[in-house]
Amino acid sequence: MVMSARQFYSGSEASTDYTRESEFFAKLKMRNGTFKLTRPSRFRELETAFRPVLTERSERLREALDVGVSTGVTTVELLRYLETCGAAPRITATDLFIDAHIVEVATGIRVLADPEGWPLQYDVAGLAIRPWIRRLDYVSLAFIPRHLASTILQPRLRALIRSGRSEPVQMITRSLSDADSIAFVEDDIMRRSADFAGRFDLVRAANILNRSYFSNDQIRTAVANIHSYLSGPGSLLIVTRTNEKGENGGTLFEVGADGSFSVVKRVGGGSEVEDLILGYRPS
Ligand SMILES: C[S@@+](CC[C@H](N)C(=O)[O-])C[C@H]1O[C@@H](n2cnc3c(N)ncnc32)[C@H](O)[C@@H]1O
Repeated sequence: MVMSARQFYSGSEASTDYTRESEFFAKLKMRNGTFKLTRPSRFRELETAFRPVLTERSERLREALDVGVSTGVTTVELLRYLETCGAAPRITATDLFIDAHIVEVATGIRVLADPEGWPLQYDVAGLAIRPWIRRLDYVSLAFIPRHLASTILQPRLRALIRSGRSEPVQMITRSLSDADSIAFVEDDIMRRSADFAGRFDLVRAANILNRSYFSNDQIRTAVANIHSYLSGPGSLLIVTRTNEKGENGGTLFEVGADGSFSVVKRVGGGSEVEDLILGYRPS
């Protein structure tokens, strides 16, 4: 049985079982229709291939940015990996959806919702119920109560959240320890963030800059934003995509003296958006 948000955030033993953690997050459907999906240990071959370069530059890797991290399981792994390369970076981990709230709407009924009041999970006396509608619900007519519940509840949830009558939580992995220097921040890679300008010695964009998800123009916008977040010549960018077989097509890029990107190393044929990154020219 999937854990309720209350159980997950209670810090009980079940909440540190990472299989159950993945099950909990995988059932949360965000308001843009995506689920909180990620998988541990998905970048082994990249880690092996990029290790010599990252080890050689470990002293320069003071600030890293991981873009589109989902629950951050692979960000925690990135930190551990960079530490084994001899670096001690602070990592900023971003995603469109990180913050959420547990709201008690009636005795024994709680809702996990995003800051806009979008319901992510109902908890009725400890039983976790999904708010989202699947195809079968149209056959069984179960879509009617689900649709009504979210339509009626969303404004109420938003008002309760805005007035501070909720418990704020973050949709991030429990594998993070207090000692880890990872800050989770909600951010849209398509919008330039002034806070990130020139800050990062390494940026990773894993399983986000995909042609099946974004248009070439959107990917170019994201690349220009990432470029503005990098700390200048010698800073590094990793872009990768994992296929259904669990294999990666990834490239490690470096910013040159003229500000353009060049390839340092490729794995599995390289990133599918390599041409867009190599075609980037600083204005
Ligand atoms: C498939 S997950 C990848 C998670 C992790 N990087 C990995 O490789 O396992 C893609 C993530 O990108 C996030 N995302 C999608 N569009 C985004 C955007 N415009 N800005 C930031 N994050 C975004 C999604 O919310 C999702 O959590």
